[in-house]
Amino acid sequence: MKISSRIRNITPSATVAITGRVAALKKEGVNVINFGVGEPDFATPDHVGEAGKAAIDQHKTHYTAVAGILELRQAICKKLREDNGVEYTPEQISVGTGAKQPLFNALLALCEKGDEVILPTPCWVSYIEMIKLTEATPVLVPTKESEGFALDVDAIERALTPNTRVVLINTPNNPTGAVYSQESLRRLAALAVERDFVILSDEIYEKLIYGGAKHFSVASISEEVKKHTVIINGVSKAYAMTGWRLGYAAGDTQLIKGMNALQSHATHAPCSIAQYASLEAICGPQDSVETMRQEFERRRDYLFGRLNAMSGVRCPHADGAFYLMPTISGLFGKKTPDGKVLQNSDDVAGYLLEEARIAVAPGAAFEAPESIRISYANSMEELIRGMDQMEAALGKLG
Ligand SMILES: Cc1ncc(COP(=O)(O)O)c(C=O)c1O
Repeated sequence: MKISSRIRNITPSATVAITGRVAALKKEGVNVINFGVGEPDFATPDHVGEAGKAAIDQHKTHYTAVAGILELRQAICKKLREDNGVEYTPEQISVGTGAKQPLFNALLALCEKGDEVILPTPCWVSYIEMIKLTEATPVLVPTKESEGFALDVDAIERALTPNTRVVLINTPNNPTGAVYSQESLRRLAALAVERDFVILSDEIYEKLIYGGAKHFSVASISEEVKKHTVIINGVSKAYAMTGWRLGYAAGDTQLIKGMNALQSHATHAPCSIAQYASLEAICGPQDSVETMRQEFERRRDYLFGRLNAMSGVRCPHADGAFYLMPTISGLFGKKTPDGKVLQNSDDVAGYLLEEARIAVAPGAAFEAPESIRISYANSMEELIRGMDQMEAALGKLG
């Protein structure tokens, strides 16, 4: 069957592929620790699950408004006001299936052929593919490991052209864990107003932030900056709700209207049950978020110490999300026990899977060819075992 070039040109998600490979190996009885995971290893809080069950029992199981039920959009507005210091009305909120859908809807509503989307790299795997699907051109602007992958506003300014439509940022960042400083976001915001582009701000890891770092939402700077910003967020990471598939966008009324028009034809609205559960997640007790955050911080500290103690590995500090991205180019040129020379991040990830029985994401998938991404959404016991196995495997390199 002939497949459209649009689809032929998509690179399937590398991180989803790793999870598939780990599942296949586990089925064969091989015990692999999966450091490639992109979701919390915690259960969805019980009170949230109960709200989902109640929605079923109360037969709240029909189509909802395309943009999401009003109560949920009102709750999101309250959250954005209280947590992020930014005012929106329910007409400025579009709730979708995961954060992925509103993100893709926003890109489709903003961009077309001839437009450029600036993307700081390393970046999450899906951004480039989504941008390409809109027929806009992704313009990759690297951040530096030596600067902790901080937002490089000077480099972004140099990359701006009259065709720049969007600058897509993600803080806290997947895959680097970097949390962008308020000062860098203020500089980017000033550019957005001056040069008239949109900041698409993916804040999905907002609640997972450590060591006293603070999340700052660029839209909170001023009304003018807010007009140039679209916030993307959701419940997946903060409330361990990846399977419920619920996220949202907040932005300009006309843009949200356009995104809703698109969604009305694509999926209509997110699952009604997930919407009621998410309402409880956002409005109910928040203690489970803090419990999870503290545990992630403990694991991050452990992993950071272990990685930096390994020869050929250098891991920058990272204050957010649940990933560390060590540079492993110090291993390139080394020989495995069966005589293979490690030449790139795929080789290193392949060797770690083979020899250490740990699955990590090769950095190339995130435009970081000298790195690997390690997720600490794993129990402390698995982290200890995985790091021991990694250290032993690296010790065998010649
Ligand atoms: C940076 C980033 N944005 C968005 C998403 C998508 O989130 P959701 O599962 O809610 O669609 C992810 C998921 O991995 C992510 O890492």
